Amino acid sequence: MSNDSIEAPAPHRNGNEPFESILRRRISRRGLVKAAAIGAPLMALSTSPLLGSRLFGGAPLAEAQESPDQGGLSTVGIESIPHDLDDTINIAPGYAAEVLIRWGDAVESGAPAFDLNNQTASAARRQFGFNCDYVAFMPLDPGSVRFGLLGVNHEYTSGVDMFPGYDGDNPTAEQVAVEIANHGLSVVRISRRGNGTWQRYRNSYYNRRIHGETPMVPTGPAAGSAHLQTSADPTGMDIRGMFNNCGGGKTPWGTILTCEENFHQYFANNDSLDEAAQARNARYGAPGGESRRKWERFESRFDLAQEPNEINRHGYVVEIDPYDPHSTPRKHTALGRFKHEAANTTLSDDNRVVVYSGDDQRFDYMYKFVSRNKYNAYNRIANLGLLEEGTLYVAKLDDSGSGEWIPLVPTGPLSDWSLADISVFTREAADLVGATPMDRPEDIEVNPVNRRVYAALTNNTRRTEEQIDGPNPRGPNTYGHILEITENDGDAASTSFTWDVFILCGDPANPEHGTYFAGFDQSELDSIAAPDNVAFDGAGNLWVTTDGQPRSLEAADAAYVIPTAGPERGRLRRFLTGVPGGEVTGPEFTPDYTALFLAIQHPGERGGLEEPTSTWPDGDFPRPSVIVTRRLDGGVIGS
Ligand code: FEO
Ligand code: CA
Ligand code: CA
Ligand code: CA
Repeated sequence: MSNDSIEAPAPHRNGNEPFESILRRRISRRGLVKAAAIGAPLMALSTSPLLGSRLFGGAPLAEAQESPDQGGLSTVGIESIPHDLDDTINIAPGYAAEVLIRWGDAVESGAPAFDLNNQTASAARRQFGFNCDYVAFMPLDPGSVRFGLLGVNHEYTSGVDMFPGYDGDNPTAEQVAVEIANHGLSVVRISRRGNGTWQRYRNSYYNRRIHGETPMVPTGPAAGSAHLQTSADPTGMDIRGMFNNCGGGKTPWGTILTCEENFHQYFANNDSLDEAAQARNARYGAPGGESRRKWERFESRFDLAQEPNEINRHGYVVEIDPYDPHSTPRKHTALGRFKHEAANTTLSDDNRVVVYSGDDQRFDYMYKFVSRNKYNAYNRIANLGLLEEGTLYVAKLDDSGSGEWIPLVPTGPLSDWSLADISVFTREAADLVGATPMDRPEDIEVNPVNRRVYAALTNNTRRTEEQIDGPNPRGPNTYGHILEITENDGDAASTSFTWDVFILCGDPANPEHGTYFAGFDQSELDSIAAPDNVAFDGAGNLWVTTDGQPRSLEAADAAYVIPTAGPERGRLRRFLTGVPGGEVTGPEFTPDYTALFLAIQHPGERGGLEEPTSTWPDGDFPRPSVIVTRRLDGGVIGS
């Protein structure tokens, strides 16, 4: 979901002004040399020594370019396809895309057939939810590439795109109940047929719908604390539902991390609270009066005037065990409360679990969590507790290409805070330690081949020219960019790192966009904007899906692949284009990289059901759906 349409939080108030760092910016002689060596569009930029240093950051990028074999050569055998705005999914020659599951399809056994004109909450709780986003492929046997479970987020609902004749000023109780049921996550058993196509199972033991009423339990420092207690749950241990689950990730022990992102929009009447509570909620953008969704008219838990702490029970990374359909989802407060886009896991050199997570708001932060205890490949039960205790860090980046992970612990500026406070009011805690405001951090994920961390910064139309800094080098940042982070000593638990700009998005044919593609000759490259979710194939190529190209490039959102090493490092290719109104998200490969799952979220959005701008996939009305892409010859995608 685009945050462009979401209420902004209170402006930054922490005193760590991003533009201050401009004064400290190191003018990189080496960066200028690199800038001069790159194609014509960049020459205009490199006339500014400051911008040159921002772009190239100094040593780390130069080293990467001078060591093209780092992580091995990654080449891509995909023919880039043109942009378009038509109402079909277009894909590179030699590939196919097929719909696997659509909004309303049966998930749990006994689910009735979908009926657009007669939707009920009880049916929706067993059907595939609305607005699919993150997709996880979980093999049913270790390494299986044929039999698996698909975990799919249902980020949000929009009544105008769901109910014929919907009146946004007067939603009915049943419509609200249906919307609550359409949030959450689906687990669906799938398998690959002999001919390479995929099918889903309608009556699998594993099939499960998790939704806005599903009981969940908090873990970590804030579990059971006063911050989480409500009149319906005085224990602070029994939470109902998860909302706005956008991106996600997987753990080495076979669970799904699904992330609550724009949770603030569900809660009304912040103005009724005392000043301190108001400020805390305003930092997350909670509406002062009525919510846009108006759920508070029917359920008191969404009314801050009646349940001031309910909002504190949302905004977390939620861990779900897809192999146990009776397991209780767990909200891990140790990973902090913010607008988590995603949560991607790796292991440190000493086998602690490291989870990267971006806070998707203009001028918010990048985080990582490092577990206290170590991963044990032979003890899944113990691993299930790893995200309950550890240290949460927030990123501070300087302009010279280095950075540090600052621990959010009750010392220094946080000496009056408890760990529970930090876990619930994480944004404020990060403000106080001087984190670096970024251009909407989305997916942050480790490339398993070169071990570098790639952070998608989707855009920030509100960054001014005065606010530009090294890691956010454009203001306004209309097209977004991608950072490449190298943890010191290559250890994910390091508290310092170096960074570089990997891609500055936009149209390379338009010099005003000031694009940069890791130094690759831009003269024949395609355009890209609003990078959101990322994934890596077996060669370490970066796959990127976008959310917002219609607004910035007047083109449908799309999926791209970009080599991260070798002579083609930075050579962008467009693999697939979506449909009007719909973002492309959820990139997820099977373990053998012969299938790539993608979600087409909110097709036809803003047209409503009365005048849909898309009727994909069936030609009648738009239905958010998961598609699976494959090479027609069954080969490895992208090779
Ligand atoms: Fe729901 Fe940050 O995209
Ligand atoms: Ca987005
Ligand atoms: Ca997203
Ligand atoms: Ca991802």
